[in-house]
Order: sequence, then C-alpha cells, then structure tokens
Amino acid sequence: MSHPADTNASIWQSSEIVGHWAQLASERERTHAAQWRFMAGLLPFAEQQPFTFLDLGAGTGSLSRAILDRYPNAVAVLADFSAHMMGAGDSEMQPFAGRYHYVEFDISAGNWPAAIPETVDAVVTSLFVHHLPDERKQSLFTEIFTRLAPGGWSLNYDPVRTEDDVARAVWERVNDRENPEAARRRLNPTPEERARHENHVRYIIPLGQQLGYLRSAGFEGVDAYWKRLDYAIYGGCRGS
Ligand SMILES: C[S@@+](CC[C@H](N)C(=O)[O-])C[C@H]1O[C@@H](n2cnc3c(N)ncnc32)[C@H](O)[C@@H]1O
Repeated sequence: MSHPADTNASIWQSSEIVGHWAQLASERERTHAAQWRFMAGLLPFAEQQPFTFLDLGAGTGSLSRAILDRYPNAVAVLADFSAHMMGAGDSEMQPFAGRYHYVEFDISAGNWPAAIPETVDAVVTSLFVHHLPDERKQSLFTEIFTRLAPGGWSLNYDPVRTEDDVARAVWERVNDRENPEAARRRLNPTPEERARHENHVRYIIPLGQQLGYLRSAGFEGVDAYWKRLDYAIYGGCRGS
C-alpha cells in the first residue's frame, strides 16, 4: 500500500495554520485543558520550587501555561519549528512574560539548538510525539533522558492507536457521539481536512510500544498515568 507524502512540515509551517488553530481554540480547551492541568500536577515539584522545563512541539503553549500557572517560580523553554505557531504563542504567553522563551527547533532532525539548556528538570509534550516517525520517537526519548537532571521527569500527552478492532470501534463510537463536528471531519472531510487528518494519524502507534521505548531509553517509573479512549498521558523519570 502506498502512503501519502508526509505533510507535517508544510501544514505546520504554513501561514494558514494560525487561523485554523484559532478556530478550534474552544474545542481544544474543552477536550484537553483538564489533561494539561493533570500533567502539571503529575510533576513532582513543590508549589514554590524553582525549576526549568522544556515543552517540545509547544505550539502556542497551552501545556506550558498550565504548568507555569501552577508553579509560580518555574520557567519554560518552548521549542517548535513553526514560526507562525510561535508568533501566535507569544501573544498567548504574555501573562507569563519573563518566565518563558521560545526556541526554534526542528525536532525531527535532532540537532539540539544551543539555546536549549543542557540539563532541565522536566520535559513535557502535548499532542506532538505522534508527528514523529517511530525511529525518531525512540531516539528523541533517549535524547530527552540524557538532558534530564537526576530525578527529572518526562511526560507526553498524545493520541495512541489500538490493534484491536473492537476497542477501536468503541473509541470511535464514543468520540463521535461526544464531538459530532470531529466525526464529520473524520468521515466527510474537505480536502484540507483530509490532509490534516492523514498528517495526524500517520505516525500514531500503540501505547505499549511507546512505554517500551521509554524503558529502553533508561526511564524508571514508566507508566500510563492517565488514559481515556485514544488519548494517554505517559512518561517516566530519570533515576536520582
Ligand atoms: C498539534 S500541535 C500541538 C501544540 C501544543 N503542544 C498543544 O498541545 O497545543 C503540534 C505542534 O508540533 C509542532 N511540530 C510538528 N512537527 C514538529 C517538528 N518536527 N519540530 C518541531 N515542532 C514540530 C507544530 O508546529 C505544532 O506547533
């Protein structure tokens, strides 16, 4: 079977992406905000503790804001390869001015820019890992491990796939009922929506495989700390 070309970079680096992203803001907030707050709570820091975290594929910074909001002395490094997403993010991040900076980084390539600190206390991602081919997921998890301070945590919030047809049917039935517009986009997409959907699902893989990648990279405490249908929050820590 031939696979359509990888459209990830052309989608995220297009100027249209910001308008599309803004259109879906309230749907995104309704669907994901509780998980972003939960991830902030999973991090093992005391409320007033100063620490530095890295948000990979940060986009406009929703997850970073949830963490910065909870920990008033934390600082964030947000990495992304889309100038348009980072530009839009700079406006949304204004309440946290002075506590964050963006770094341009094509994470598919693996050449970490010097502007990212050699060591950070946590690395988080939201809705990003599924944009990477499997080999890059694996090598990225190893790179994250080497950048974490002892005791540091890495957490990913991402869609996952199942090989089980019955489970997949349940996921789709429940999701379609809860979000008829997303169901319409999946079942009857415009050409643009189809390209985005193909980009979205291309590299989504089962959760267990990703937990295995984390263990192979050396992480401890590897677990799915939250899961609902086709979305999971999973991660682990670097031993101290
Ligand atoms: C679905 S958005 C998620 C944004 C944000 N993390 C959130 O949860 O709202 C995916 C983000 O990953 C970025 N991205 C995709 N591929 C990338 C790559 N190879 N390197 C860096 N950023 C990438 C996109 O520009 C976009 O901002």
